[in-house]
Formats: sequence, C-alpha cells, structure tokens
Amino acid sequence: MILVAGATGNVGSALVRQLIGPPQRTGTGAAVRVRALTRDPARASFPAGVEVVAGDLTHPESLRPALEGVRALFLPSGTGEEEAVFAAARRAGAAHAVLVSSITVLTHPHLPAARENLAVERQLQDSGLAWTVLRPTQFASNALWWAEAIRGREPVRAPYADVGLPAVHPADVAAVARTALTEPGHRGRAYALTGPARVTARRQVAAIAAAIGRDVPFVEMSRAEARAQLAPFLGAETADAVLDLTGGDVNDALLRVRDTVQRITGAPARSFEQWATENAAAFR
Ligand SMILES: NC(=O)c1ccc[n+]([C@@H]2O[C@H](COP(=O)([O-])OP(=O)(O)OC[C@H]3O[C@@H](n4cnc5c(N)ncnc54)[C@H](OP(=O)(O)O)[C@@H]3O)[C@@H](O)[C@H]2O)c1
Repeated sequence: MILVAGATGNVGSALVRQLIGPPQRTGTGAAVRVRALTRDPARASFPAGVEVVAGDLTHPESLRPALEGVRALFLPSGTGEEEAVFAAARRAGAAHAVLVSSITVLTHPHLPAARENLAVERQLQDSGLAWTVLRPTQFASNALWWAEAIRGREPVRAPYADVGLPAVHPADVAAVARTALTEPGHRGRAYALTGPARVTARRQVAAIAAAIGRDVPFVEMSRAEARAQLAPFLGAETADAVLDLTGGDVNDALLRVRDTVQRITGAPARSFEQWATENAAAFR
C-alpha cells in the first residue's frame, strides 16, 4: 500500500492517477494499492480503486488509520509536523518516504522557506525511513494565480515579465515520485526537477491565451506594485522571497533547465504549453 498525502493537490492528484492507472504493476509484478489522504474526504473525488482516508498532517496522531499497512508514502513538505509524521510512519512499519521539498534549498538556501525545507529533508534522512527527496522548481500551476483575472476579462499583471524560469508541470513531479515509489534505485537520492524550457510570465500568458482561444492582455508591474499586492496576504518577508525567486534575485542554478524528469521517468518533461492546454477550463 502506498499512501499519498496532499492527494487533492496539484502533484498529489496527478500521482494518485498515475499510480492507479496503467501500468498498474511494479517491476516486481506486485499490484500497486493506493490510499489517498485528505482532511475532508467528502469534498474530494478520486478515481475508482483508490482508498480514501481522512487525516491531518498537523495532527500526526490522526494519521494512524492512514498509515496502517503502508509500505511507502508520498509527502509534500510544509505542514510543520513532518518529523512526527516520519516517526509515525516508521512506527507503522513503512519503509520509504518520497518528500517534495524545493529547488530553493540549492539555489536560495538563505531564504527562510528554503531553510525550513532543508530542515525537513534532514528530518527525513534521520528518520530511519529510506528516503527520496524531490526538489522541484516553480510549478506551471502557479499560473492559476491569474485565473480569476483572466476569467474576468481583466489584464494579467505580473512583475519580471521577461525573466524565463524552467517551470515544471506538476504531473512531472508526480511522475518522478511514481518512479521512485515503484521502481528500485531511487532511495537515498535527491532530484532537482525542472520543465523542458525556460518560459517567461509574458509567454505563459500568451500560452494560456492560445489555449483558451482569445487575447489576454498583459501588464508588467514594478516590484513595488507587486509587493504591495502580495505583502498583505503573504507577509512582507514571504512576498520579498517570492519576488526574488520570480525574477528579482535569480541565479544560474535557478535558471538552468535540467534533464532529471526525462532521466528518471524515461519520458520528456511536459511543456508549459501542454499544462496550459490541459488546464484551459480554469481560465475560461
Ligand atoms: N508551487 C510551487 O511553485 C512549488 C515549488 C516547489 C515546491 N513546491 C511544493 O510542492 C508541494 C506540493 O504542492 P501542490 O501544488 O501539489 O500542493 P497544493 O495543490 O497546494 O495542495 C496542497 C495539498 O496538501 C494537503 N494538505 C494541506 N494541509 C494539510 C494538512 N494539514 N493535512 C493533510 N493534508 C494537507 C491538501 O489536502 P486537503 O486540503 O484535501 O486536506 C492538498 O492536497 C508542496 O510541498 C509545495 O511546497 C511547490
């Protein structure tokens, strides 16, 4: 049994579909059984064959039913109680965990969120579980931030319009997780994950416009304007970090296109254009 935490999220939902869909068998010929974790099973919907279980990652004791009989788990970082979750998984008999961290542990280790992710990576490495760490870059699905404006026929406003980052399709993060969970050779490894090409905010909006079949105006904001919008929601420190990572303080390591997705999964990384086409309905 594989437990997928974050199963209603961008990566987790793709992972559930990939684990349950063909090929349904691991290299050893054993069937893959999938259990999806959510805080609210009544609101979630999963493909047939997926076992759904309630649990809250901030209350590790609530995970007892979720962890029963689990040999491996998938866990997105960021809920704050990861160390206790790893301990509970180990007590329940799990052998392996695949953690979603962030590429910023490599590219911007001074940022608070990167420090937190690195601490969680170390907690996993010290947990006694076999581990695989995924360090994705910015997700293509972050473009959903613009969905409301686009649906409302308003222009998209974004800073650093012409800085191209190698945004990764969440399904590719899932595909690497699926491989790590079901095939040998990925324990004790950390993988930096990117998409197949650098794509600017301006080009992302053009790709969404092409996917929905109408023009979407784009207005470049200054950093100060963007900060004034973000800070009330995220706090000043996180707003600055987001703006640095979006274009204000990028570096070669963040800009680099990596071939990890293709190397691990055997399939080329999906483009931003593919993500936009698949998710056009969210922008119509
Ligand atoms: N976005 C990016 O650019 C980016 C870049 C690098 C790394 N990451 C990391 O990638 C990971 C996955 O992101 P994503 O976009 O797939 O996530 P997402 O779409 O935001 O979904 C979050 C998921 O976490 C679950 N969750 C949140 N709090 C929970 C709790 N207390 N207990 C149980 N489940 C909880 C939610 O489940 P329910 O609501 O159903 O309970 C939901 O399935 C995250 O760790 C994120 O930090 C993101």
